[in-house]
Amino acid sequence: DTMKELLGLKAFESELQDKLGVKKAVIVAGDSDEEDWVKQEMGQACVKELKAIIEPRSVVAVMGGTTLAAVAQMMTPDPKVSQTIFVPARGGLGERVENQANTISAEFADRAGAEYRLMHVPDQLSEEAYASLVMEPSVKEILDLIKTSRILLHGIGDATRMAARRSSEEPFMNKLKREHAIAEAFGYYFNQSGEIIHKQRTIGLQLDELDTGKHVISVAGGASKANAIKAYMQHRPSDVLITDEAAARRLLQEI
Ligand code: BG6
Repeated sequence: DTMKELLGLKAFESELQDKLGVKKAVIVAGDSDEEDWVKQEMGQACVKELKAIIEPRSVVAVMGGTTLAAVAQMMTPDPKVSQTIFVPARGGLGERVENQANTISAEFADRAGAEYRLMHVPDQLSEEAYASLVMEPSVKEILDLIKTSRILLHGIGDATRMAARRSSEEPFMNKLKREHAIAEAFGYYFNQSGEIIHKQRTIGLQLDELDTGKHVISVAGGASKANAIKAYMQHRPSDVLITDEAAARRLLQEI
């Protein structure tokens, strides 16, 4: 934290809070677009926030992505966390195994000495399949658990980059372009004003359920994500935003 004072990041944090309407912003030094260790720094900051708010028997829902995967790597054991259950917030969204919410929640739990539950649902669901899957007792059980989560940890992505990473078809890529998609978070795509342009069908937490008293911690950094972070926060300013210096500088100076 002495480093932080020297770099003046503390003042930046309150500026960022005001600009985005988030309750708390935490800025770590560096640019995660350029250096991988910056994601780990954000991870450390996220673990600290998590431990500060977690209560015994908490259910923590986590999303996927390379940032959250790095966050999970920084988790450490804590007596308070031993009865916590980590769950994936939503079903598969077309990520590589190591970046899937299931894998990440198991990683968190293993490192914390906590428990986890997996959700086995395929990425692409037809409406019929969706309707019958949510009736399956084993799926229903985990869905109920996810609904009780008080804490959500998630990443934010650039809309076009995320759609490409999910091997989206051209008509969809065109739609994103036409409707000026900027941000992506847990399968939802947003424009610059934070309006939902598209929602990927998968089971688990829906965006409108975040307002039921959930404590949302968003983790996203890199100058290239500044626009996406801003757009997403227009929709629902998070309780905590953990970001890096490069994203924060761009957010405060250029946008
Ligand atoms: C995905 C999440 O898995 O990761 C998205 O579903 C998020 O919500 C994305 O936008 C972020 O990925 P990364 O690799 O940039 O952290």
